[in-house]
Amino acid sequence: MKLVTIIGARPQIIKAAALSRAIRNHYANQIQEVIVHTGQHYDDNMSEVFFDELQIPSPDYNLHVGSASHGVQTARMTEGIEAILIKEQPDFIVLYGDTNSTLAGAVAAAKIHVPIVHIEAGLRSFNKSMPEEINRIVCDHCSTLLFSPTLAGVENLKREGFPLDNDRPYTIDNPKVYHCGDIMYDNSLYFANVAEEKTDIIKRLALNDKPYILATIHRDSNTDHPERLSAIFRSIIKLSEECQVVLPLHPRTAKLSKANLDEELQKQIFSCQNIKLIPPVSFLEMIALERHAQLIMTDSGGVQKEAYFFKKPCIILRSETEWVEIVETGNAILADANESHIMEAWQHFKDNPHIDFPNIFGDGHAAEFVLDKIISFKVL
Ligand code: UD1
Ligand code: UDP
Repeated sequence: MKLVTIIGARPQIIKAAALSRAIRNHYANQIQEVIVHTGQHYDDNMSEVFFDELQIPSPDYNLHVGSASHGVQTARMTEGIEAILIKEQPDFIVLYGDTNSTLAGAVAAAKIHVPIVHIEAGLRSFNKSMPEEINRIVCDHCSTLLFSPTLAGVENLKREGFPLDNDRPYTIDNPKVYHCGDIMYDNSLYFANVAEEKTDIIKRLALNDKPYILATIHRDSNTDHPERLSAIFRSIIKLSEECQVVLPLHPRTAKLSKANLDEELQKQIFSCQNIKLIPPVSFLEMIALERHAQLIMTDSGGVQKEAYFFKKPCIILRSETEWVEIVETGNAILADANESHIMEAWQHFKDNPHIDFPNIFGDGHAAEFVLDKIISFKVL
């Protein structure tokens, strides 16, 4: 069986590591994987570093689309992916998450009748001003096999008309929904101990005995709005009076901070001893930072979940989340880009340090589950 896997943005490269590893370890003589990198992310520390570290095979194709407006970027990817699908004639295309690379893969494949496997299906923010919400809805509705990491995701699909008890044959018009656990959890479990051995980031940043908050910011809803980005950075400055803050800066945020923060605020941030602004880190470095953090503050989908995997309270810098379970269990608070909500959430977690993290993300073998279902699709 031949799969074409589409990756492009950082979190997709990381997710693909789990599936490629499972193919290598369990299905090497049954499945051939062709990896297509769209080139959506291209800096070494947003792409290359993950291939080396997570032992992902080098992409068979790289479309090198780079950055552009949504329409231009998606169109270039769609054109490139279509040509590859025609040449490779795969049994399935595998798409992850909700980026423009996901959307391009879905549109290209659906139109030429290549069945789609969507990993991370069913997630919804119910906020269509997010580009990701459009991407994930389109992808889900073009897919044949939908793998949802959470029960909330399965419920969302049911609400949109997906059948849950249908029989074979599964097609784009009779799609199959599976609840399978979270493929990112596979990676966090697999690499957690390796990260401790292989990285020295905690020592390098002199964080050993000191509590710190780990923060990431990259959503366009935060970076592209000066008042929101400023509110987030003002809270980081306030938090840094009590605790160190480590902030690996996404290139989008690095660029837009210069444009959208006033000079005085930029000066304060850069001169603050307790704020460690660093370039994006590798995955192993990131999970080492997550494991040792006192608290995580983020607008990232993946980092929210990793906070939960490593049993860390999380302040979500958004007004809603697709990962509703994390909020429902009390382990994360939606503080949006609101200074006083962020400080209240920080106080709440300081006052209530013992929180419970029931296992809601599966058993760490989501990749094997997905591959079993793909194989049985053909066999049965
Ligand atoms: C994209 C995804 C988002 C995902 C995020 C993960 C879409 C619509 N958005 O957002 O869902 O959460 O990736 O990180 O697909 N840039 C560089 N170097 C790079 C990559 C980007 O400098 O290697 C800069 C460019 O200025 C670019 C900007 O970052 O314009 C945004 O990149 P883009 O891929 O368009 O969106 P992200 O914000 O990264
Ligand atoms: N990540 C990383 N280095 C960083 C920041 C994040 O390796 O400097 C990892 C993080 O551990 C997670 C993934 O990138 O696995 C999340 O990606 P991102 O926040 O870019 O996107 P999202 O998950 O919001 O789509």
